Amino acid sequence: MQETARKLLNKESMARLKKLEVEYPDKQSVVLSVLHVIYDQFGYLDKEAVEEAAGLMSIPKVYFEEAATFYTMFPLEPRGKYLIQVCQNICCTLMGAEELIDYLKEKLNIDMGETSKDKMFSLVVVECLGACGGAPMLQINDLYYEYLTRAKVDEILENLRNS
Ligand code: FES
Repeated sequence: MQETARKLLNKESMARLKKLEVEYPDKQSVVLSVLHVIYDQFGYLDKEAVEEAAGLMSIPKVYFEEAATFYTMFPLEPRGKYLIQVCQNICCTLMGAEELIDYLKEKLNIDMGETSKDKMFSLVVVECLGACGGAPMLQINDLYYEYLTRAKVDEILENLRNS
């Protein structure tokens, strides 16, 4: 691993990168895993941290930029503590996703792509998350919530606010 002047990546991230370097001798194959490391530390893909990782691993940063802009699972800007991704694909739309989106916007007092004033929640729409049978559904950080109603949304947000 190369030396770098910047030190944005913490000890845990550095240890994970060193491990990945051994596990993925083909440098291009490691790109997504490195993005996960940065996302886990920052909650989004901090541009300077991506550059630092690219420098450390001697991988052209354009590889990271391409992957980062292709996959919607990686926010490129700081987000709230909880990233709410509402599915707006066909099954969820048929089962009430539009009403769900309107309710979330009203409840959080934000628009799509925005973060609540208390920095707790960010709201985005996404395409099918593969849980069509539980429509309408959404994902908050790593968890899925299905068969949603206004009452369930109230309960979920309340639990997150109190956690
Ligand atoms: S359409 Fe919403 S999860 Fe598939």
